[in-house]
Amino acid sequence: MYRSHNCGELRETHQQTQVTLSGWVQTIRDKGFVVWADLRDRYGITQLIFDGERSSKEIMEIAKSLGREFVVQVKGTVIERASKNPNIPTGNVEVLVSEIKILNKSLVPPFTIEDRTDGGEDIRMKYRYLDIRRNPVKNNLIFRHKVAIEVRKYLSDHGFIEVETPYLIKSTPEGARDFVVPSRMNEGQFYALPQSPQTFKQLLMVGGMDKYFQIVKCFRDEDLRADRQPEFTQIDCEMAFVEQEDILNVFEGLTRHLLKEIKGVSIDQFPRMTYDEAMKKYGNDKPDIRFGMEFGELNAIAQHKDFGIFNEAELVVGIAIPGGAAYTRKEIDALVDWVRRPQIGAKGMVYARCNEDGSFKSSVDKFYDQEDLAKWAGATGAKAGDLICVLSGNANKTRTQLSALRMEIAQRLGLRKNNEFAPLWVIDFPLLELDEETGHYHAMHHPFTSPKPGQMELLDTDPGAVKANAYDLVLNGNEIGGGSIRIHDKQIQATMFRHLGFSPEEAKAQFGFLMDAFQYGAPPHGGLAFGLDRLVAILGGQETIRDFIAFPKNNSGRDVMIDAPAPIDDLQLKELHLKLDL
Ligand code: AMO
Repeated sequence: MYRSHNCGELRETHQQTQVTLSGWVQTIRDKGFVVWADLRDRYGITQLIFDGERSSKEIMEIAKSLGREFVVQVKGTVIERASKNPNIPTGNVEVLVSEIKILNKSLVPPFTIEDRTDGGEDIRMKYRYLDIRRNPVKNNLIFRHKVAIEVRKYLSDHGFIEVETPYLIKSTPEGARDFVVPSRMNEGQFYALPQSPQTFKQLLMVGGMDKYFQIVKCFRDEDLRADRQPEFTQIDCEMAFVEQEDILNVFEGLTRHLLKEIKGVSIDQFPRMTYDEAMKKYGNDKPDIRFGMEFGELNAIAQHKDFGIFNEAELVVGIAIPGGAAYTRKEIDALVDWVRRPQIGAKGMVYARCNEDGSFKSSVDKFYDQEDLAKWAGATGAKAGDLICVLSGNANKTRTQLSALRMEIAQRLGLRKNNEFAPLWVIDFPLLELDEETGHYHAMHHPFTSPKPGQMELLDTDPGAVKANAYDLVLNGNEIGGGSIRIHDKQIQATMFRHLGFSPEEAKAQFGFLMDAFQYGAPPHGGLAFGLDRLVAILGGQETIRDFIAFPKNNSGRDVMIDAPAPIDDLQLKELHLKLDL
């Protein structure tokens, strides 16, 4: 038996008990006649004491030879500690060691296995198995497990069946590039790894499964960011005989359950906002509504003077920074520089201080009088003491720029509190999105999303205006889930493919199986998928999903621990028909 107790378990009530513990040596303090060592496992830390008077000479020698991260098994007696450590649950006791066995030695680890380690990101990723021994990483993985269990429990209790779908499939368009796998047995042909199980879950509805879910890996070859990994996990769901309202209710219920069980937070009804409203008020389809600073559009009250920049702009729009009137000129200049950085791309920023005495002082006093500025304050909700910041230009670009400024300011002001949770449904997304480069429309969600009732006709005349039966769940400014009511009619799906630029032959080659299935009694259906990594990170009060994934990829899509991707040998290439001249 390797252990009778774990390293987080012993208390004063265990005094005089004989115990066996196994774990890793975290620290050793050799005071000559007495040696202390901290023994660690997943459950905690227990102090070991080796005492020249009470322990044998042989044991003292082994104790003195221990190194950090050695794996040892000890037997001994639980005794009261002379100097107690109130910071850990086992801090009142220690184990007086009577037997010790080194189960495995360790090289000196390349960074300290402590909560605040001296190891940088790169080295910790290379030795991720050591990083996982640290509490912050270990606790995140345990936290993820708890969330996944609650998800399974909730969905299972609500009649959902978990069904596994294949990984070696054909392209499913979710807007990213596919990872492909060459087929040895089918020369010149490739599988694609699923960007999501979208088509399979729809086929499960045709198959009569009624309510499906799966906690499933998805693969997308896209540029990486803090909230994106090339392989990530979805809580993927689909339901038959449902309308949008049914789906929103079920998944609002799931989210409410998780907030309650995991965070102890009760939230009633989730607010809903249309895509158009979100863009108008926050310049963003995933607004963080934990704080205000809503956009105020100023066209009507700022385009009547001689200020050419505003007069020529498609949109003049501002926000009020709480307390910003106190910013020094230097601080405001720094903000102007911030919005002019290439990543943001604004040409400049107009501002107006709202003084405590009710007067205004703006950077465009030459053009606008106090009465004008009072109207700006009205439109942006600015109060005495605030700073109004105004951007102008192309409507879409300006909204994106002001949204970035809003988030930056909120971050600086500490308004993005990680123990506050503000979910929001964003609904009525456009069906299509214009690709500025190619001039073609593509599906904003995916090609299987149905237009809102009565909008099909608009597809020919004004495709950009067609609204979809599509919705996202936003939590604290992050898109944690998205879904739609699907098309279940072959003709409508064919029309949709035509609008997306597929010839009938291309549509048949790529998605013939789905359209065939629609001919055999496909029920009306719809669903949604949550990003599990994002959901877990946000519930955990963070936004970087890497910290909640056991073995993540770095920003270049590499696993630096196993060194992947890597070349393969010529023979393998030949077998896969990728190298023919051997
Ligand atoms: P969508 O593409 O919106 O929808 O994806 C669903 C959710 O998955 C998460 N997500 C990601 N998380 C980490 N890294 C990534 N690279 C990544 N990409 C997406 C997001 C997102 O909201 N099949 C549809 C769902 C449906 O229509 O039912 C789909 O995949 O949190």
